[in-house]
Amino acid sequence: MSAPFLKSIATRRTIYALKPELPSALSIADVQKTIQAIIKDTPTAFNSGVNHAVILTGATHKSVWGSVTDAIEAEAGKKRPASVRDEAYGSVIFFTDDKITEGLQEGFPAFAAAFPDFAAHANGAAQMFAWTALEEDGLGAHLQHYNGYVKAALAGKVPEHWTVQAQLCFGTPAAPAGEKTFAENPVNILN
Ligand SMILES: Cc1cc2nc3c(=O)[nH]c(=O)nc-3n(C[C@H](O)[C@H](O)[C@H](O)COP(=O)(O)O)c2cc1C
Repeated sequence: MSAPFLKSIATRRTIYALKPELPSALSIADVQKTIQAIIKDTPTAFNSGVNHAVILTGATHKSVWGSVTDAIEAEAGKKRPASVRDEAYGSVIFFTDDKITEGLQEGFPAFAAAFPDFAAHANGAAQMFAWTALEEDGLGAHLQHYNGYVKAALAGKVPEHWTVQAQLCFGTPAAPAGEKTFAENPVNILN
């Protein structure tokens, strides 16, 4: 029964070569519905709802990724964010809500040290679901972590107490994923 789910997981790959368009069967509203469902249904510690996301596209995507590119000094370091600016159709920005994490720390002091990790884990799960779902819908995507730069570029557009966790950059695939090697890491049954 889980075979289609496992196939989706195996099919998801890092696709860097993107065109700044959507496949013809897909609208940005479809992408929004998908990400909304993932934010709703991804579990969070104590069911706290710590995850948030926004989707950047159009002029905002260009200006945010332009700011990230400009803020990086080394020429080599500008390459990836410039490619996102010019070649991705959009980017999903993932956040965790620090007020929720602080509330949990106050409410459950025994777990206080763990809540930032729990928030990051739950956010990572949402990132993986989103990456897999968008590629199932015919998009290509890659995951980035220009967190501080993106936070600065989004100042005033999202609440200050949202921490940027990752960026999933998407568009129409322009080339397949590269070769990949796998660590088998056998899973044993201890009986
Ligand atoms: C938690 C996590 C963080 C990652 N961060 C980055 C990143 O910052 N930049 C990047 O180009 N790729 C990043 N990647 C992509 C990995 O390099 C990639 O998933 C890995 O090489 C396996 O390739 P695949 O995605 O094609 O299966 C990240 C992946 C994961 C799971």
